[in-house]
Amino acid sequence: MKRVAILISGGGSNMVKLVESMTGDHPARPCLVLANSEDAGGLKKAGEMGVATAWVDHKHFKGDREAFEKQLISVVDAQKPDIICLAGFMRILTPFFINHYEGRMLNIHPSLLPKYRGLHTHKRALEAGDTEAGCTVHEATAELDDGPILGQAQVPIEPGDTPETLAARVLKKEHQLYPAVLRRFAEGNRKRIEL
Ligand code: GRF
Repeated sequence: MKRVAILISGGGSNMVKLVESMTGDHPARPCLVLANSEDAGGLKKAGEMGVATAWVDHKHFKGDREAFEKQLISVVDAQKPDIICLAGFMRILTPFFINHYEGRMLNIHPSLLPKYRGLHTHKRALEAGDTEAGCTVHEATAELDDGPILGQAQVPIEPGDTPETLAARVLKKEHQLYPAVLRRFAEGNRKRIEL
């Protein structure tokens, strides 16, 4: 049975869907939900679902990224995870952390990579006049929002869309895509999923 640690920063809606998906004949189970602040809403939800939780506040490390990441690693590795899922985790991770989990860390990004790496993806897609948007699950590598793509889901951009209405449409797809990719990844299958 593979053990999955999930890193969050906020409400953790993707984390909830991942945890809910790991039941029955699914080859993985959640072993930890970790946040970079004590008041991340997802910690309470994870606790209610019976998953071990922890938090490491990046503000306690005053910009010393490596010290923060060393503490993250010690808390995560205490649960002996096989796979790490970044799910709405909003801290940039340095190669130090990335290399430690090389080949077994996933991330979800709210755009059709390689378009719109970084932030404000929906606003940028709307400003560019795109007719479609979506989300991508990829292996996390040292390059921000790069790495081998494991799955993508597309949504149409509708007339009158705002970044908020588009984000809500994409988030629904994220909640389908990430659990599907995680299951396949936990089975050792890296064939890309297109939703
Ligand atoms: C989502 O848009 C996700 O794509 C991005 O963080 C946002 C919030 O995710 N990575 P969640 O609701 O905290 O899972």
